[in-house]
Amino acid sequence: RTINGPSEESSLKLRLRPRRLRRSEPIRALVRETQLSLDDLALPFFVCPGSGVRREVQSMPGVFNLSLDEFAREVASAREMGIRAILLFGLPETKDEVGSGAYDPDGIVQRAIREARKIASDLIIIADTCLCEYTSHGHCGVVRDGAVMNDETLELLARTAVSQAAAGADIVAPSAMMDGQVAAIREALDQSGFAETAIMSYAVKYASAFYGPFREAAASAPAFGDRRTYQMDPPNAREALREAELDYAEGADILMVKPATPYLDIVRAVRERFDVPVAAYHVSGEYAMLKAAAAKGWIDEERALLEILTGIRRAGADIIITYCAREAARLLARR
Ligand code: PBG
Ligand code: ZN
Repeated sequence: RTINGPSEESSLKLRLRPRRLRRSEPIRALVRETQLSLDDLALPFFVCPGSGVRREVQSMPGVFNLSLDEFAREVASAREMGIRAILLFGLPETKDEVGSGAYDPDGIVQRAIREARKIASDLIIIADTCLCEYTSHGHCGVVRDGAVMNDETLELLARTAVSQAAAGADIVAPSAMMDGQVAAIREALDQSGFAETAIMSYAVKYASAFYGPFREAAASAPAFGDRRTYQMDPPNAREALREAELDYAEGADILMVKPATPYLDIVRAVRERFDVPVAAYHVSGEYAMLKAAAAKGWIDEERALLEILTGIRRAGADIIITYCAREAARLLARR
């Protein structure tokens, strides 16, 4: 007999009883296989021009477009909560055909990087490297005759990455899904004296409905067509490994799979095949679903969040990018 309750008295002589290890919270904790840690989370931010701007994204309650002053305050408070990595997206003052704002040395993200660096020298600053927030047509690359051009785009992505590294980014995260982007960026970084800047490649990025709220947050919806000629077709898994293989060979330091929960099989497969850290992006639509169900009282938000993040970790992700990092920090601190 133990403090955890009466012993079974039945005549069944069950020898194997998995329930033995579920009898109390300390026992469950003792044998728990997957742990969540704040060390493994990255929190995205959307920075915009102006001052005193704190505009909530309609489809992402709790997520804001922040001007640099507000952003600085938020980063400081996130850091205080124990969040150690942030991912930056920018809403530029103006957009043009070639996304000049993305590689402007004084662009919105470059300024945000310098601002964040002032707040905490040990903060891990990750910059999303893409053109879609900066192009007038909203595509992730240069457009000619309605088509997104691969090779011309590479040079612009490389310039963007170098400008982000120059501003002080620790990691650049190319998300345009152009072929050869990791190699182009690695070469440009190395030639510009940024051999220490790491690349977290959005290696496996599906053309997903779950980016909808993000495009509201970043004002980056394509003006025509969609992203299916460069982002991956959701039914494909072997192709995901091929994409990961290319980025690995081109020198990606971290491989990302995105979105997370509908693609946990891919997270697992990439984890098993490659010996570099794997990141999973719990994207805007995944966030919106959770928030919407919670707001209706249809789901226990805290439990659901821990379950989702744990599931992503259990699938094999070393790093999780999530808009819920603050909530997670609160929940983890309470345990
Ligand atoms: C930019 C980019 C997108 C996301 C991350 N980087 C949007 C897109 O590809 O349309 C999506 C993130 C999210 O939905 O939270 N290429
Ligand atoms: Zn893009």
